[in-house]
Amino acid sequence: MQLFFNLSITIFFGLVAKLGHANIGTVATRQPVGAERFEFLTGKVISSNSDLKSHWDKAYSKQEFIYGKKPAKFLATNFHVIPSKGRVLDVGMGEGRNGVFLASKGFDVVGIDISSIAVKKAEILAKENQTKITAIVADVNEYHFPPKSFDAILSFYYVDRKLLNKLVGWLKPGGYIFYEGFLIEHKHQIKSPEPDEYFLKKHEVLNFFPKFKILKYSEDTSPQSYTSSIIVKKSL
Ligand SMILES: C[S@@+](CC[C@H](N)C(=O)[O-])C[C@H]1O[C@@H](n2cnc3c(N)ncnc32)[C@H](O)[C@@H]1O
Repeated sequence: MQLFFNLSITIFFGLVAKLGHANIGTVATRQPVGAERFEFLTGKVISSNSDLKSHWDKAYSKQEFIYGKKPAKFLATNFHVIPSKGRVLDVGMGEGRNGVFLASKGFDVVGIDISSIAVKKAEILAKENQTKITAIVADVNEYHFPPKSFDAILSFYYVDRKLLNKLVGWLKPGGYIFYEGFLIEHKHQIKSPEPDEYFLKKHEVLNFFPKFKILKYSEDTSPQSYTSSIIVKKSL
């Protein structure tokens, strides 16, 4: 699978520096928390994709929250469409900035990520915010939730086209998907070595969920951003 290691580090480090996020102080001094421990805590399956896992574990083994602690703006300004206290899945949750934000607003949040270090940081962030999330360490491509489990699903900066049908199946009728990622222009701008498939083409997300109603769609094509964002709703 994926991801934007180089580009995300570039972009989000800039953002982190700008926002001056506080260091958490504890993560870097600890041994990485083993995936087995999370299996024990969550009772859920563990990823078998060890290369991807170590790639992301390495990225997250810094003290600071590399993506910051604040939610993505697109989520923070639009989350109110999700029914209150609804059950939300955050795929490729990372350090939990989005999932923890929703948990603090009263949602029942399940976050899944291949990196046990990211998940540990997400749990720390939840604690800091006096809230809780259900955290799962696993490759989401190998994981199975029961059909129609969630009122909303978040996929932020985790572009994985082969996962789209699974997301649709996991969503309850009337549920919402929030999807945001970098446009391919961003890859060109930062000369990222990452494969093209990790980036979105202009307007591409409009075709990701063809049977869903599009509630909101925006593309920021300013060179500082190059992002595409969408909220879609499954029919009842
Ligand atoms: C660019 S980060 C985005 C994190 C978070 N969504 C955010 O916006 O802050 C992508 C995340 O996807 C996770 N990831 C990559 N491949 C995955 C997979 N196959 N299953 C689960 N998580 C995965 C990585 O560990 C990483 O945390």
